[in-house]
Amino acid sequence: MAKWHFWGEKEFSDVYENIYIRSFAEDWFGIVAEIVKEINTQNSPNKLVLDIGCGEGHTTKQILDRVEGDYICDLLEPNQNALSSAKAFLTLENNIGECFPGSLATFKTDKKYDIVFTSHTNYYWGLNEKDYNAQLSKLPDLLNNDGKLLILTLPEDSDHYKIMLQQVYPEFNYAEYIADFYKKLGFKVEVKRLRMRMFVGDILTTNSRFDLKIFYRFIHNTDSFPNDTEAEEFLKKIKEYQKGGYIDFSDHLMVVLK
Ligand SMILES: C[S@@+](CC[C@H](N)C(=O)[O-])C[C@H]1O[C@@H](n2cnc3c(N)ncnc32)[C@H](O)[C@@H]1O
Repeated sequence: MAKWHFWGEKEFSDVYENIYIRSFAEDWFGIVAEIVKEINTQNSPNKLVLDIGCGEGHTTKQILDRVEGDYICDLLEPNQNALSSAKAFLTLENNIGECFPGSLATFKTDKKYDIVFTSHTNYYWGLNEKDYNAQLSKLPDLLNNDGKLLILTLPEDSDHYKIMLQQVYPEFNYAEYIADFYKKLGFKVEVKRLRMRMFVGDILTTNSRFDLKIFYRFIHNTDSFPNDTEAEEFLKKIKEYQKGGYIDFSDHLMVVLK
């Protein structure tokens, strides 16, 4: 399975990548704002929150910095280095509780959370549908009765999904599958369709392959650079899907209530 490349590592290319990807991910903060709105409108005055698959905590911080009122946020992350970085980085300014090393599948707790959120981690939950569904079933059990489950992931028709994820990950990884799964079990599910697009005009107009290869790493969640053949195949796909120098990176936020 592809290894997720963590933003913020100190090589030049990583710093460049961080700046590059973020500056072209238009509307990302609109997506963060929707997650924050859902957290802020949950009833509990003293919220116990869990972030599943926090990585190095960059998204976590963008969210927690905007939460109103008291909260404590626990972190779950299978990559030990990423979890340590997240803990060190977030405790400076945010209210971080327990940090659990491990995957969703191995996670055990007696706690019940007011908010459980997870951003772009579902691709890793299970390699077959049975294991994947077991993780989906587990999530509502982590909530208290008024709790909210927030899952941010890709819809089936986004270019992001079509260019990469559909080929690499099993077919049940897209947003609509998750929404249907919970609806069939009788949960209330609201799906927020959130627009985001990536500017790829620079990649299409340069003869250098540096930006293309960096973009490849980002979109494939890998820390390896593609070889020239893989890079050219990737470029072909970008050309096929782009419209006016942009590709669609829309996300769906699923708000699941018990
Ligand atoms: C694409 S990154 C997203 C990081 C962060 N949530 C964000 O949105 O910026 C996916 C994260 O999920 C974590 N992950 C991988 N397998 C997981 C699992 N089975 N359960 C929970 N998290 C997992 C990875 O280690 C990685 O940090």
